[in-house]
Parts: sequence; C-alpha cells; structure tokens
Amino acid sequence: MGSIRNIGVMTSGGDSPGMNAAVRAVVRTGIYHGLGVYGIRRGYQGMIEGDIFKMATTDVSNIIQRGGTILKTARSKDFMTEEGMDKAFEQLKKHNIDGLILIGGDGTFRGAAQFFERHSIPAIGLPGTIDKDLSGTDFTIGFDTAVNTAVEAIDKIRDTAEAHDRLFVVELMGRDAGYIALNSGIACGAEDILIPETKTDINDVLDRIDADERRKKAVHIIVVAEGDDFGGAKEVQECIVKRFPKLDVRSCVLGHIQRGGAPSYADRVLASRLGHAAVEALLKGNTQVMAGIVNGEVVYTPLTKVVKEFAPISADMLEMIRVLSA
Ligand code: F6P
Repeated sequence: MGSIRNIGVMTSGGDSPGMNAAVRAVVRTGIYHGLGVYGIRRGYQGMIEGDIFKMATTDVSNIIQRGGTILKTARSKDFMTEEGMDKAFEQLKKHNIDGLILIGGDGTFRGAAQFFERHSIPAIGLPGTIDKDLSGTDFTIGFDTAVNTAVEAIDKIRDTAEAHDRLFVVELMGRDAGYIALNSGIACGAEDILIPETKTDINDVLDRIDADERRKKAVHIIVVAEGDDFGGAKEVQECIVKRFPKLDVRSCVLGHIQRGGAPSYADRVLASRLGHAAVEALLKGNTQVMAGIVNGEVVYTPLTKVVKEFAPISADMLEMIRVLSA
C-alpha cells in the first residue's frame, strides 16, 4: 500500500477530550498496516526539538477514556518562522517519517498549510478542538464532551439561581465561534444566548430581562460565548446591574474546565473512526486533507479549506431559542 513506511502523529493547540482516543486509533491502525508509528510530543514545538519516539500498541493502552493528551500539546511560536519549519522538517527526515497525522484545530492547520508550502510531506489532519470552528466536519473531537461539561455546570448554576432568585451570566469558551455557547444554552434552557455569529444588541437583552421581571420570572440565565461581539460575562453583568440596580446578578466564567475530563462516548467513537480513517486515507494517497464527519460519513476536505470557514448558525435555531425561552 503506497510508499509510506513511517508516520508521525501529534496533538497540537488546545487539548480536547478525545485526543487520546484519536492517537490510539492512529497508532493501532498504523501498526496493523505494518507502519512504524512515531509519537511527536508537544506538537510542532516537539517536532522542532526532535521530541519524537517510536510507539507500540501498548503505548496507547488504557487511554481511550482519558482527557488531555498523552502526547502533550503546545502552541509553538518557533514553528511560525522559516528556521523553525526547516528544523522540524530535518527532524522528520532524521526519523524517516514520511507521513504525518496532525490532530488539532484552526491554528494547527494554518501552521500545516505554511509548512507544506515550504516542505513536502503527505499529511492528514484530524479535527481536535472543543470549539467546532472548522468546516468539513459536523463535529470536532472534544466538542460533545465540552458541551456536556458546560451543561452539567449550568444545570448546577440554575439550582443556586433558583434558590436565590438570581440572574446569572455564564461565559463559555469557543474562541470566536459560538457553538459551545449555543448548544449548551439550548440544552440548559437558557433565557438568552449571546454568540459572535449574531450581533448582540445589549438593549434587547436588557429589555428581555425587563419583560421577565414584569411577569415575575425570577430566574434568568444568560449564556455568553467568550468571543461575543459585545463582550464577556463581566461586561454583560455590568450593563445589567447598571439598568437594574436592585437585581441580584452574578457572573461565572467556566474556563478550562470545558477542556478537561473523560471524553463522552460520542467523542471516543468519533476520534476512533477518524483516527482509523486518516491512516487508511494516507496509505491510499489521499493527503493534505482533514478527515471529518458529515451526515455520519467520513469525508475528506483540503486542509486549506477547513480553516475558518465553519458553518453558519441557522436562522431557525435562533428563532427557536426565542420561542423556547419564554
Ligand atoms: O481552542 C480551544 C480554546 O479552549 C478556546 O476555546 C479558547 O479561546 C482557547 O483555547 C484558550 O486557550 P489557552 O488554553 O491557550 O488559554
């Protein structure tokens, strides 16, 4: 099958739950096909520094259920330089690595695009990010777990909000995408969801609180994505307090808790399918693409295309939020 003999696998950028399951699938599929499989630690930084080791099937035992990444991860500034890319390529040659599997998100694939302009090596990307900010896939590895984590947290916040008749503003991750906030907010019955994909008019938000107050709806939970155009939880809280000084308002930034923890079953299955498919595709000569899942099927999209072209949020969904939060 093809001319690839040794592949390197790495995780890069922000970790996401399910990355370990993806590494496991890549390592075991590669070894099944008789390939040498090399783990590259700390993403591109480890590639530059030659932090590379040969992996056996047992190196990935007992990791499918673990969050984080056994290969560790990093955001490498050095790799953005020509010198860094050249050093990384030298290290790949030194280890006879002639194929790459890159597990990461937007930053990882942007880095890859620049690298491949300079150096030629077959590669496949896997969408490993909680943000779901890539096109070419309906889900990214880690997104489902992150949303479940956020949902569990907001459910708990609603308990204390009910007990005190308080208004809460909860800020969720997603960088400049609102998918985590949107899906978590819907699943928790949030009264308002503020996301970067739609312009936030804070006066509308305040008017909705006013309307709820008038009809004695005591609990109001606003979910705001960290990348929302108006601002984060603190800014929203300040505006609410200014207009409704008598309201008891709290804010909560959920932060990195959304990145950790055991991956959900959905993320484990997704990571396993994509990790397996990536090695198979690489061996068949399908390269410089990302393996994603669309309508339940594995599809391959050029790496240059998946970056920052994520799907728009449907108007139906936004309309639904208004109706259901009554
Ligand atoms: O890309 C994943 C993510 O968790 C984003 O949601 C967030 O904006 C960013 O990474 C945080 O990065 P860091 O862990 O470097 O603070």
